[in-house]
Amino acid sequence: MIELNGLTKRYGRTLAVDRLHLSIPEGMIFGFIGPNGAGKTTTIKMMGGLIAPDSGRVEINGIDMGRFPEQAKQCIGFIPDRPYLYEKLTGMEFLKFTADLYGVDPGAFPDAAHAMLERFSLLGWKNELIEAYSHGMKQRLIMAAAILHDPKVVIVDEPMVGLDPAGIRMVKKLFQELAANGTSFFISTHTLSMAQDLCDQNGIIHNGRLIATGTLDDLKIQANATEDDLETVFLKITREEQVGRPYPQTAGD
Ligand SMILES: Nc1ncnc2c1ncn2[C@@H]1O[C@H](COP(=O)(O)OP(=O)(O)OP(=O)(O)O)[C@@H](O)[C@H]1O
Ligand SMILES: [Mg+2]
Repeated sequence: MIELNGLTKRYGRTLAVDRLHLSIPEGMIFGFIGPNGAGKTTTIKMMGGLIAPDSGRVEINGIDMGRFPEQAKQCIGFIPDRPYLYEKLTGMEFLKFTADLYGVDPGAFPDAAHAMLERFSLLGWKNELIEAYSHGMKQRLIMAAAILHDPKVVIVDEPMVGLDPAGIRMVKKLFQELAANGTSFFISTHTLSMAQDLCDQNGIIHNGRLIATGTLDDLKIQANATEDDLETVFLKITREEQVGRPYPQTAGD
């Protein structure tokens, strides 16, 4: 459903993303984790077609983002780390605006919007200007708008920042339900407990390179770790990289 092939991006002398290969099947929730500046947001921007890679390819649902950006973007629900909202629109107007961008059938829009607003506990706020929303309410509205067109792929940069505990639980449940129906998720986050709990697999990016990927058990093997928490495994893997130790360690090292 998501194919990244040799994806590379430089900013001047910084190699932000270095020959990234990833294949994420239908219905998988994939967590993308890494230290600050590792290249997560840069990768996500290339996946969403916001910036072009220097080399390599992004394929969404079999569609090449470089050659057919409009068709590829139709398949994506994109939730950026710093979303832009039109503060002078109401929540409902914003939903209508994004639904029109994605070509949602106008006849189906009212019911879909109602269900989405209810789900995100925003029904009572639908006719208020977005400028009156709290940070977490804006975050929920962005998510509602991003998935209203029923995308095959959802790409999220830090989904839970700003959400309260009930909001986090609701979003997790929603992601799991959508994944069970075949939607694929690519989620970048620093909340490793959430990544462990929610994601089927995680990839670790460090200095632009994907240095480990797989289930928690796969990552434990790669890290030579016995601990059962992703945070410890992640810190082991990224620390090993940092000090330049051979990795993964083999017998006799
Ligand atoms: N527009 C830009 N111009 C120059 N350098 C950039 C730009 N955007 C990102 N970089 C650099 O590319 C590298 C990767 O940045 P990126 O934002 O992708 O990291 P990240 O993994 O999302 O980090 P964080 O966890 O802090 O969000 C960093 O070295 C960053 O300084
Ligand atoms: Mg980032």
